[in-house]
Amino acid sequence: MEKMKLIGPFKQIIPMTGIGLKGPISDTEIQIIRNGGILVQDELIKKVGDFEALKTQFPEAENTPLKGNHVCVPGFVDAHTHICFGGSRAKDYALRNAGKSYLDIAKAGGGIWDTVTQTRKASQEELAKSTLKLANRHLKNGTTTIEVKSGYGLTVEEELKMLRAIHTANTEAWADLIPTCLAAHMLPKDFEGSETEYLNEISTRLFPRLKKEQLTPRIDAFIEESAFSAAQIHPYFTKAKEMGFDITVHADQFTPGGSAVAVDFGAVSADHLEASTPMDIERLAHSDTIAIALPGASIGLGCGFTPARKILDAGGALAIASDHNPGSAPMGDLLTQASILGAFEKLTNAEVLSGITFRAAAALNLKDRGKIAEGLLADFIAFHSDQYQDILYNQGNLKPCMVWKNGKLVFDKHK
Ligand code: NIG
Ligand code: FE
Repeated sequence: MEKMKLIGPFKQIIPMTGIGLKGPISDTEIQIIRNGGILVQDELIKKVGDFEALKTQFPEAENTPLKGNHVCVPGFVDAHTHICFGGSRAKDYALRNAGKSYLDIAKAGGGIWDTVTQTRKASQEELAKSTLKLANRHLKNGTTTIEVKSGYGLTVEEELKMLRAIHTANTEAWADLIPTCLAAHMLPKDFEGSETEYLNEISTRLFPRLKKEQLTPRIDAFIEESAFSAAQIHPYFTKAKEMGFDITVHADQFTPGGSAVAVDFGAVSADHLEASTPMDIERLAHSDTIAIALPGASIGLGCGFTPARKILDAGGALAIASDHNPGSAPMGDLLTQASILGAFEKLTNAEVLSGITFRAAAALNLKDRGKIAEGLLADFIAFHSDQYQDILYNQGNLKPCMVWKNGKLVFDKHK
């Protein structure tokens, strides 16, 4: 056991406790611990409360008081990224802004397929290295848990290569990387056979290897006209569920259909939802599936945002993720994107902060993080400020100055 540490004093600690998983949240529900401290033992939070009181109660705890004003919130959880990839799609971005659509570019052989070609050329070591580099960038911006998808390999061996690279990056990164298999991202252009045959090959040959090597507990699919239909995905998800995988879906991005499948299969999350109908929103709101808005994809593609306000008002659980990928969402700055979504969709501070902390953790089926509370992982971040509203007010321009992961100070801007 390591020596106990008392971290603080913070002008404000925003623990994000006492707030429900679903529905709208008023800012009055945000608890504020003033002049607070966090007592940490090993990787866990032991106690949260008044700094001076904790100091008196635990005189044996190590403590170097923080100087200046700091606001502390839980480490951010980015529940949807594609940061394992080869190459760049800057050309696609320029083409889109010159008037070509994302789907037109995909049809012409660019888009996701372009990244597949470049990712296949990269070695596992190169992918592990580039993934680690992006993960470290996100960590400095306050993200202590990062979901990372495969989906640019699109053969059994190439998908394994990606997931093994993500595994290696995870062992070296401070942040926790949560891997997801997205072999059902599109029908690979060089596959000789139908969508059904491809999905069948993946589920019979790749799924058992994912289990054997413990590469991921999660299976994702892109349900869209340019990718796979709901009918094609049905047997694929059935097999995945039978084998005990959690399901997540790229749903309703350009056309509806995917979120209904997500709800039918009890998916942990349905992500994108830019094209969800009022009926889709109702269905999601009455389910346990978390709706994940991806404002980075809307900003990258120059299209409308996920109807986040409507999802919350209908009673849904809303998380916000960056979707960081080389194509539709190249920026990858979760805090900036979440702040912008908040401004456009009229989301309260409490709704945005919940969406990138404990509601996002729930979308990954993680119950041990996303709040600053006793017994949870000591993942929290500090901003130079005396009040928490500054965080979203600065629309991503106020970055954290300190990041603690598993109780360790892993980033300190002052140093
Ligand atoms: O979430 N929509 C499908 N997949 C990704 C984009 C991947 C890419 O463009 O490379 C997304 O936006
Ligand atoms: Fe995505």
